[in-house]
Amino acid sequence: MKLVAAGPEDATLLAAIHATSFPPGAAWDAETLATLLSLDGTFALRAGEKGFVLARQTLDEAEILTLAVDPAARRGGIGAALVSTALAAVGAAGAKAMFLEVAEANEAAIGLYAAAGFTRIGVRRDYYAPGSHALAMRRCLSAGENSNQSNDCK
Ligand SMILES: CC(C)(COP(=O)(O)OP(=O)(O)OC[C@H]1O[C@@H](n2cnc3c(N)ncnc32)[C@H](O)[C@@H]1OP(=O)(O)O)[C@@H](O)C(=O)NCCC(=O)NCCS
Repeated sequence: MKLVAAGPEDATLLAAIHATSFPPGAAWDAETLATLLSLDGTFALRAGEKGFVLARQTLDEAEILTLAVDPAARRGGIGAALVSTALAAVGAAGAKAMFLEVAEANEAAIGLYAAAGFTRIGVRRDYYAPGSHALAMRRCLSAGENSNQSNDCK
């Protein structure tokens, strides 16, 4: 599936995708997504109407803010393609590392991120709610490539 850049004008579509993937209260609405997408260094890639990744880059560090694939389209490689393309984009723009937080119970996302070369660097306790912890993960990369899975981030 072809991936395309998404901007604030796509916020309604992205919110609809997000709502398929997160429970009410955790899903991000169109206004929130449009605001994020208007910030310097924040960008999104979408796979048609099936999924998207939202990420942000500041100098040599980048972060995945959210990732969602419509349940009907899962296990088809869309999530992996979104993450690998985001990694390539931030690597080409000078990022040395990409970070994210993921719920420690989210086996699907942790499996995807591990397959993409992210490694666990810590735990943020009670990050989502009391008793709901997040894993912090990092993927090192060097400019212009997305296959460096070393973990020194130099
Ligand atoms: C996590 C998510 C984005 C994965 O999207 P996807 O398009 O199904 O992922 P892919 O098909 O590219 O899977 C890539 C790899 O991730 C891992 N993976 C994906 N879903 C998995 C699952 N349910 N259980 C275990 N591993 C899984 C596998 O290693 C998979 O490779 P494989 O299919 O060859 O085994 C999707 O499940 C989702 O939107 N979940 C809800 C929102 C969410 O949790 N977002 C992440 C928040 S940090």
